[in-house]
Amino acid sequence: MKYQFKHLLILGANSDIAEQVAYQAAKEKVSLTLCGRNLEKLKALQSDIEARYESKVYINQFDANKIEDHPAFYENLTEKPDAVLCAFGILGDQEKAQKDTSWQNIIQTNFTGAVSILNIIANDFEEKQYGFIAAISSVAGDRGRQSNYFYGSAKAALTTYLSGLRNRLYPHNVSVLTVKPGFVKTKMIDGLETPGLLTADPVKLAQAIIKGMNKRKNVIYFKPQWLLIMKIIKSIPENIFKKLKL
Ligand SMILES: NC(=O)c1ccc[n+]([C@@H]2O[C@H](COP(=O)([O-])OP(=O)(O)OC[C@H]3O[C@@H](n4cnc5c(N)ncnc54)[C@H](OP(=O)(O)O)[C@@H]3O)[C@@H](O)[C@H]2O)c1
Repeated sequence: MKYQFKHLLILGANSDIAEQVAYQAAKEKVSLTLCGRNLEKLKALQSDIEARYESKVYINQFDANKIEDHPAFYENLTEKPDAVLCAFGILGDQEKAQKDTSWQNIIQTNFTGAVSILNIIANDFEEKQYGFIAAISSVAGDRGRQSNYFYGSAKAALTTYLSGLRNRLYPHNVSVLTVKPGFVKTKMIDGLETPGLLTADPVKLAQAIIKGMNKRKNVIYFKPQWLLIMKIIKSIPENIFKKLKL
């Protein structure tokens, strides 16, 4: 595949999905800036990628919740990207968030933090009239369910934000990809029993993300059968839906 971008910034690069995107992009000589909270883990990832491939890899500290630091973070990057993958996120603990204020962290990490950094990047790409933005949302944002509506509503907000951003940036040659996975076999859902046929392999999802970015796609569901599942879930009338244990 011929890559349309040369330097990929990955936010939340220690995510199991993001790591796979990093390997695949580096293999195709895309240089990388890997960002996250845990610099030690990022250093290990950087060394491993540089040992395997010729790509240059930079690492940077980044916390989605330190919104006041985001402008300086972007300003001080050694190399400015022409593509970004926003991969950070937390599932949170639904039951706990119903009882205390930990819902704030779920909303802030998954939504406000993403908006804060993507706004800065969007303005840069708009000025350059070129760029690829991708962010990992979730099918959980397609309809609120009692078992995870804090996470789901943050992802719904992110999906809506990305839709607006796509509409704004389209005339400026900047594409915005919304990635909507169902279950993905990563540490985020460790310990959760999920149906094998509906649980994605992070390597395959990473391939789909890179292909989607390169082809300037708008939205991808992964696995693709989630598109049909969510169509059905969204079609259930609210009067019935509210009685279901979901
Ligand atoms: N796994 C699934 O079933 C699934 C399904 C749908 C969507 N997603 C989405 O896919 C994305 C990647 O998740 P994953 O499955 O790869 O899980 P993961 O391996 O747990 O990765 C999540 C990453 O987010 C980072 N993060 C959390 N809070 C952060 C903050 N305040 N600032 C910066 N980074 C932060 C974590 O960093 P630390 O290493 O520092 O903790 C971690 O590297 C997430 O947005 C998630 O919501 C996952």
